[in-house]
Amino acid sequence: MNSELIDVVVTGREEQADGVAVFELSRKDGDLLPAFEAGAHVDVHVSPEIIRQYSLSNAPGHGTSYRLGILKDPASRGGSIAIHENFNVGHELQISEPRNHFPLNMSGESSILVGGGIGVTPMLTMAYALKAEGKSFEFHYCCRSRSSAGFLAELQSEFAEQLHLHFDDEGDEQRFNPEQVFGAYAEGKHVYVCGPTGFMDWVISTAEETCSYPKDNVHFEYFNAEVDNHGSAFEVVAEQSGVTVMVEDGQSITEALATVGIKVDVSCEQGVCGTCLCDVLEGTPDHKDHFLTDEEKEDNDQIVVCCSRSKTDRLVLDI
Ligand code: FES
Repeated sequence: MNSELIDVVVTGREEQADGVAVFELSRKDGDLLPAFEAGAHVDVHVSPEIIRQYSLSNAPGHGTSYRLGILKDPASRGGSIAIHENFNVGHELQISEPRNHFPLNMSGESSILVGGGIGVTPMLTMAYALKAEGKSFEFHYCCRSRSSAGFLAELQSEFAEQLHLHFDDEGDEQRFNPEQVFGAYAEGKHVYVCGPTGFMDWVISTAEETCSYPKDNVHFEYFNAEVDNHGSAFEVVAEQSGVTVMVEDGQSITEALATVGIKVDVSCEQGVCGTCLCDVLEGTPDHKDHFLTDEEKEDNDQIVVCCSRSKTDRLVLDI
């Protein structure tokens, strides 16, 4: 999962809404940054110990800057708080090249983009891409209040025709009703959603179960997730290292492996980014991540070891 790191500098910072700051990053050497597609994110090396994933939010393509919208999360495990405290203009850091686990299907007939809170950021890149191609789309932005809605002025000026705003503290008539918005599935319709976990679960289940959209037409990216490491203890064999360790109730596989000196690269530690993905040689994983697709989970030949567990007493990993 490693890609070459890029040395960048913060060249712009703007406080846009309650707790939301927008950062512009440019290469230290002034060159163009690698091109990116709608839905892409970068790994931000906040400090040597903290790596976090953030979606890009500017118009996709090739340019001299990337733009990130970052919410200062009171429940932060250190990432967003450190960014808000330290990432001022002139601050130097490293980021990965853009990666895309949330691509836009440009052959779709129509797209419904749904951003919940700061989950609006990947939707912005998608809206820019769809608009540039003259594609049909709706953009639904759901927030607690207007004062918490980042990028509001930009959305209203760039996507006036497609934008629908939904605020928790305003009238019932403007509340987001996914069943009504999605309607019955028709071929070529696609839904894209990013936002808090509970909000996404609601949107995804409405699209798939209530409105009968095929799974392939419902696209999503989780940016954080609850991790529950509880469950029966099991044995993990690290085949390459020749080491066996017990993973106890309340412990992750990565934590158990660390106790015997095996370090697995991790980043989000929430089953979202895929950094800790390992091949499974024997045993059946109990998948708890939001990274692998349903099909990949059914194959049972890979596991996200920061959060998943085992359905069998023994799991042999190719590490
Ligand atoms: S570290 Fe991100 S999925 Fe495990």
